[in-house]
Amino acid sequence: MSNRNIKVVRVTKDDYDQVCAITPPGQIYSGTDYLPDYFHMLLDMSNVEAYAAVVDGKFASFFLSFVVDNGRTVVTRAGRTNKEYAGMGLQDVMRRNTIKDRKYDKMAATSGAHVKAILDQIKSGKREKILMMEFRSYITSGDQLKSILNTIGNTTPSSAKPIDAIELGDILTNQQVSCHLFPESRVIVDWVPYRLIKSNAFLIKTIRTTVIGSNLENGTRILTFGNYFNTTAGLVCNIEVYGCIGETLAEHLYLHLRELISHEISGKVIIRCFYRQETKSNFITKLMNRFGLDITEIWGTGLVCTETTPEIYFR
Ligand SMILES: CC(C)(COP(=O)(O)OP(=O)(O)OC[C@H]1O[C@@H](n2cnc3c(N)ncnc32)[C@H](O)[C@@H]1OP(=O)(O)O)[C@@H](O)C(=O)NCCC(=O)NCCS
Repeated sequence: MSNRNIKVVRVTKDDYDQVCAITPPGQIYSGTDYLPDYFHMLLDMSNVEAYAAVVDGKFASFFLSFVVDNGRTVVTRAGRTNKEYAGMGLQDVMRRNTIKDRKYDKMAATSGAHVKAILDQIKSGKREKILMMEFRSYITSGDQLKSILNTIGNTTPSSAKPIDAIELGDILTNQQVSCHLFPESRVIVDWVPYRLIKSNAFLIKTIRTTVIGSNLENGTRILTFGNYFNTTAGLVCNIEVYGCIGETLAEHLYLHLRELISHEISGKVIIRCFYRQETKSNFITKLMNRFGLDITEIWGTGLVCTETTPEIYFR
């Protein structure tokens, strides 16, 4: 590595093609890589910094920091290194570069619970496990989904309703409500962990996010988040479910799926549903089956969220 010319550069929207070429999207997360579709949206966000390691003039590695929790926590996401340059420490160089001279208390990341590198880092004390969620993937075609939803017709949900960023901020910070929805004092949306802070509501709710809430005043409250992106495997929609899982969830799924088909879909639709570990996955699967979605496995069935401090990570 020492005799190679390595430069770390700040990535701009003009670098889209070079960033996407670092690792072909079909080779990340079993073809469900969100970066090509989210790239411009992420670079427009004021809490995002993206860097590339350029080795001998070639974009070799990409690193993205996503700052949450009123500036206290830096979440790393979407990192990738071209196979030719793997293990050279390029991610590490960019991580140090991003953290230096900053006052982040915590560094957080989420990953597939099957990723050995993360499990090793937890074991060695480099990262602390703070939350795990189960997920299942469901698949159908865009045409079939449209046809089933059109057969169901425009039903008016009895209680489920869209939640805007202001109301979401109120929910996150209302202790009586949030202690039921988020007992670990953390909400993971679209693979990003957030503390229950008002300002995070405005980061959670992007142009791709739909938030649906039901029965928020009582013990059967449920809150769901949906985010969608195009990938080589198809249109992927991540749906996180918090709160009391029962028949009301069908109304939420209906609204998230309706939102999805309002956009152009060609080919497959993959719904990834995330929920607490004690949830009975069969119940979720039965609800998905109603909408013609069949269970499949794409890139694991669990996520693990970890946190560390710059001092511990770099010691
Ligand atoms: C993960 C990845 C970015 C590492 O890139 P790299 O330039 O080889 O990384 P470095 O040489 O700087 O450091 C290797 C470190 O990454 C860790 N690592 C390897 N795979 C990892 C993964 N999927 N997630 C997190 N860390 C990983 C290694 O354990 C090693 O850590 P250590 O220093 O504690 O031993 C690269 O393997 C990759 O592109 N993977 C495919 C995309 C992906 O899974 N990204 C996960 C982040 S969202």
